[in-house]
Amino acid sequence: MIKKKNSKIRIFSGTRPTGFLHLGNYLGGLKGYLELQDKKDYDCIYSVVDLHGITSPYDPKTYQDQIREVVLEYLACGLDPKKCHLLVQSQVSEHMELAYYLSTIYPVSRLEQLPTYKEKKKEQPQYVNLGLFYYPVLMAADILLYKAQFVPVGKDQAPHLEVAREIARIFNRRFGQTFPEPQAYFMPSSYIPSLTGEGKMSKSKEGSYINLISSLDVIQKKLAKVPTDAGKGKKIPNKGGVDVLLKLIELFQGKEKRKNYENLYLGKGVQYKLLKEELAIAIYKELKPIQAKRNYYQKNPKLVDGILKQGKVYASKIAKQTIQEVKEKMGIV
Ligand code: AMP
Ligand code: TRP
Repeated sequence: MIKKKNSKIRIFSGTRPTGFLHLGNYLGGLKGYLELQDKKDYDCIYSVVDLHGITSPYDPKTYQDQIREVVLEYLACGLDPKKCHLLVQSQVSEHMELAYYLSTIYPVSRLEQLPTYKEKKKEQPQYVNLGLFYYPVLMAADILLYKAQFVPVGKDQAPHLEVAREIARIFNRRFGQTFPEPQAYFMPSSYIPSLTGEGKMSKSKEGSYINLISSLDVIQKKLAKVPTDAGKGKKIPNKGGVDVLLKLIELFQGKEKRKNYENLYLGKGVQYKLLKEELAIAIYKELKPIQAKRNYYQKNPKLVDGILKQGKVYASKIAKQTIQEVKEKMGIV
């Protein structure tokens, strides 16, 4: 681990404000944020990446509410302004400035090949804009602006992290050592599959997710729809609905519980109705205090405004220094 004398290890991550957070965001992203904010010598900046959010269809009238929702849920899950800084990306315009500089050193052909870009093109064929294409460069700028060394994200972000690493390498080679090569920090739960049994849990796929603000009733209904099988067999399924259920059982009820169900599956059979009822209760038990905390912060908007203001001031200071250094190295000042 590279660590300068007297300096902390910088962490950066972000979430798009595309609606309420779901279990994938919580287990794959936020759990990592929480773990790292508790480490001594780590300096964490966590952001709502609103400039990334506008590369997909969105409603400008409700966008500010969506940004606020992510901030509330960040705080509710335990991000603590005493241990980390919270930032709304667009409030530090240097993100865009650095993205432009970095875009001039990165080949178009590499971006065209990215699986994330190809997927998005399929998902939103009427909305294939330049911003969408540029998305990984802006993400690299987010990370490099703060010279972050670790980036807690879900596995779906691995290709984007590779772009950020490559951009750092190219920049350093051409203009002299400037950026550390950022590394992804994956949690054991870094890939949460969709409740439909196909692909990943995602906000853009209806029926695939459970939100953090879901009631017990909603969780029960969502789990009830997860496709299952006869409940017994010679091999534990490693894909589809049963695999999703087992993963969630492990994460919310523990490894032991999962093992019990696996033994039943290989033996006298699993009763999915009971399994789903128990799982719904376990998930809700973890979400209930988060929901209460979210409501507390919602009722205290001044407190939240203050936290964001502090985050902006802190991040701006670092951002300005990096931009100055980059401009000098690139010969623009
Ligand atoms: P997004 O909502 O795409 O901005 O994602 C915010 C964070 O949640 C990122 O770190 C993602 O990698 C993570 N994430 C989103 N969906 C999943 C999933 N299905 N499994 C694990 N992590 C996820
Ligand atoms: N692309 C990320 C996602 O969809 C969000 C993001 C934007 C991000 N900038 C970032 C994540 C910087 C980590 C670091 O989840």
